[in-house]
Amino acid sequence: MSTEPSSIDDTQQALLAQGYVAERELACAVFLALRLQRPLFLEGEPGTGKTEIAKTLAAMLGRPLIRLQCYEGLDMAGAAYEWNYARQMLEIQLQAQGLNGQEQGDQRVDREALSRDLFGERFLIPRALLRAIDPKQDLAPVLLIDELDRADEPFEAFLLELLSDFQISIPELGTIKARQPPVVIITSNRTREIHDAVKRRCLYHWVGFPSAEREAAILRQRVPGASAALAAQIVGFVQGLRGIDLYKLPGVAETIEWSRALLELNALVLDPQTVHDTLGLLLKYQDDIARVQGSEAARLLAQIQAEAHG
Ligand SMILES: Nc1ncnc2c1ncn2[C@@H]1O[C@H](COP(=O)(O)OP(=O)(O)O)[C@@H](O)[C@H]1O
Ligand SMILES: [Mg+2]
Repeated sequence: MSTEPSSIDDTQQALLAQGYVAERELACAVFLALRLQRPLFLEGEPGTGKTEIAKTLAAMLGRPLIRLQCYEGLDMAGAAYEWNYARQMLEIQLQAQGLNGQEQGDQRVDREALSRDLFGERFLIPRALLRAIDPKQDLAPVLLIDELDRADEPFEAFLLELLSDFQISIPELGTIKARQPPVVIITSNRTREIHDAVKRRCLYHWVGFPSAEREAAILRQRVPGASAALAAQIVGFVQGLRGIDLYKLPGVAETIEWSRALLELNALVLDPQTVHDTLGLLLKYQDDIARVQGSEAARLLAQIQAEAHG
């Protein structure tokens, strides 16, 4: 499928056809982002499907995915473009050799031509942001700017021109503008607040932990081998864990991993020993694991047992 969805329901369906279970609010945000050609800013807990939505959209729309993973120290050279200094130096040398044989008058003219040439596209190394707006490409891509909260705050300022006008100004070369705007998805795990100036240019959606019903639907999509009964127990247990005051709560990614692990172990139901042995797939901090192994696991198991029979 490569046409754009025509309604919120249609968007939800098309995402589901790619294995992505979106709540209606998210489908609405995606639909409007496509319609209004605005970037979509997704904030939420890790492992709740923010990055996945960009991959899913690329598949759904039949567009290439260009991904910019943000990190501390990321700058314009890493994100947008860089001049190829080595090639520029080589070009200067080559031209200088050529110039030696020529007359004085021509030499001055050639120098001007050379400096113009040195800052031409031939010597430009495009990175993700510039590639995303390349006017020469046939199909505007999906641009994923992932985990923006990992980049340093000043980096956000680089994005403003891109987000509002889908263009980048290169002082030596001029402004490069997309012929057709890319679909832009920005994600943040909210380890810090993203500046208002960025958010103002985007549609905003908070991606929370899913309801039990939706998490079960996600498991049906992602781990079809799990029986409905086991999936219900898994979801019940994980949802229970999220009610405990832990340092790091498990996301959907962890639920999926745990389910796959339980299938590998041929578990048909959750029992105390299996839970004890596999908690490391759900919880990644020893304090959290110790706390749950203590008494919480038994309590949660009793709870989902009661629900199953109630
Ligand atoms: N709503 C969903 N539907 C289908 N799969 C999901 C959904 N939410 C999360 N997942 C799965 O959970 C995993 C983690 O998602 P990811 O997008 O990496 O999380 P985030 O970027 O929010 O940290 C992925 O394997 C993804 O397929
Ligand atoms: Mg992510």
